[in-house]
Amino acid sequence: MSKIKPQPGILEIAPYVGGASSIAGIDNVVKLSSNENPFGPSEAAKEAFRKAAFDLHRYPSTDHAALRTAIGEVHGVDPERVICGVGSDEILAFLCQAYAGPGDEVIHTEHGFALYRIGAHANGATPVEVRERERVTDVDAILAACNRKTKLVFIANPNNPTGTMIGEAELARLADRLPKQALLVIDGAYAEYVDNYDGGAALVDARDNVVMTRTFSKLYGLGGMRVGWGYGPAHVIEVLNRIRGPFNLSHAALVTAEAAVRDTDWAEKCRQDNTRLRAWLAEALAEKGVPSDTSTANFILARFANQAEADACDEYLKSDGLIARKVAGYNLPNCLRITVGDEASCRRVAHAIGQFKGAGE
Ligand SMILES: Cc1ncc(COP(=O)(O)O)c(C=O)c1O
Repeated sequence: MSKIKPQPGILEIAPYVGGASSIAGIDNVVKLSSNENPFGPSEAAKEAFRKAAFDLHRYPSTDHAALRTAIGEVHGVDPERVICGVGSDEILAFLCQAYAGPGDEVIHTEHGFALYRIGAHANGATPVEVRERERVTDVDAILAACNRKTKLVFIANPNNPTGTMIGEAELARLADRLPKQALLVIDGAYAEYVDNYDGGAALVDARDNVVMTRTFSKLYGLGGMRVGWGYGPAHVIEVLNRIRGPFNLSHAALVTAEAAVRDTDWAEKCRQDNTRLRAWLAEALAEKGVPSDTSTANFILARFANQAEADACDEYLKSDGLIARKVAGYNLPNCLRITVGDEASCRRVAHAIGQFKGAGE
């Protein structure tokens, strides 16, 4: 037995399993397992990426000033209190590294995103799972779980994989009542898909115990580029910047993300298409006897009678070249998470699920 041991907590981590992207023996697959933008990034972003090829020998900016300025202008936030990371994953990891260690507790909700638990364990802290109410974040249950050891409270709003969200008054109530030493992290990976929602930015501005994280991986279609950002009070951003590697983002990533965030027309087109196709898909599935909660994100959580039916439907979809996401690991064994694809993909999924349900009758 080797005497070389990792830090406490590391071996508790169940490695993250990403969405599948291929099916053996099938060429024309549609990947609906990772909540990617089916239309990809804007032309301006692709052009910026191509131009970046001429500067590959140069080290990138260390302060990300141009990207932070663009984010500030487009999202109406103070660029001085923005931090950019290798996906919002990196910002979530910085938060855990900076604020949670052995003896501390990190709260996440029952069906919350896997990275919160991983981040807690990675730093020797204890993740605490809090039940949701019918697949919706329950502020009272979170408050009841808080104690002197609570250092971080993660909620995704909208949540992944449920697609549900809570309102701004509930977020403010949560922030107001947290213990003094706890930081509320509002993960806004899907915030851009919601009408008239700032992702929690106003709450960040109003308080000193709230941080918001955002990503370029969803609406902006840059999942492969790995760019995310956080917005928080000065004292938190200053701490996170101390642990951020000086060259964490490549020049290509920085300029591509900057062009993407500035192309508000493309973002708006993608947002509107998602809203329309999401409503269509949810209704089409409901008609076939597969209900879902009202989703505010770019996916739908389809509910089946039980795990056996969900698994059988997943196999049926795969045989048709359609890759959905099983979410048993999120305590939702009777559900499949299906990304809202383009119109043709939505029709294909609805048709296949209709055939599956018909075959089962
Ligand atoms: C709720 C939530 N937060 C954060 C992320 C991480 O996104 P990224 O690291 O690509 O910015 C995801 C990705 O699926 C997510 O669903």
